[in-house]
Amino acid sequence: MRNIIVILFALISISKIASSLENDCPAILQSSGATTEFGIRVGHAIHSLSVRNLKQFKPDVTEKNQVPTVNLNLTSDIPILSYAPDRTTPDSHMFLLDGSIILDEILSHMDDKSYNLKNYNPLEQIVHTFHMEEIWAAALIDYRNFEINPPSDEVCKCALDIENNGILMKLRQTALIIREPNLMLGYGQDRAKEQCLKNPSSPG
Ligand SMILES: *[C@@H]1O[C@H](CO)[C@@H](O)[C@H](O)[C@H]1NC(C)=O
Repeated sequence: MRNIIVILFALISISKIASSLENDCPAILQSSGATTEFGIRVGHAIHSLSVRNLKQFKPDVTEKNQVPTVNLNLTSDIPILSYAPDRTTPDSHMFLLDGSIILDEILSHMDDKSYNLKNYNPLEQIVHTFHMEEIWAAALIDYRNFEINPPSDEVCKCALDIENNGILMKLRQTALIIREPNLMLGYGQDRAKEQCLKNPSSPG
């Protein structure tokens, strides 16, 4: 009987801790330096990551990673992958420069209208991919600092709680935009306008 009470007590306390942690996550993330738009920013930053990109962060990464991404295969029934896929092609090994590998990855699908950003022509897809590569290069600098000075377990737990911290929501929205661009026309313009008013010199 006593054991049961102890277990019950533990379960109740754990669920209390879990729910309070969940509710405190925005504050916990912000106190560690994250913006109020943590989910939107991170969701955007990770939506098209691949194994090649993750290897810059950790060389032994494979497709068995847990970084959720938007599926660029638009005919697949699964819009969001639970991992970052390997997008290298059979020719990737012939190139030494990242830029050449990126061009090869994009141009290998250039005639496939059901892959990658639907309404983007190959040039626009190249520009979009290099824009994302820029973001990952910037993230890598922060990542190296985090390796030296890691955030607390509490912060990590909140960052990993993608169901509640906005990351999954942003990935779903991004998947919708790339799958149904015509239905999503105008979506997000309010936010863009707000950003422009706040910072007129900002390009985005
Ligand atoms: C996309 O997904 C469909 C359905 O699962 C599959 O038949 C097709 O081969 C995939 N295309 C690519 C480029 O991976």
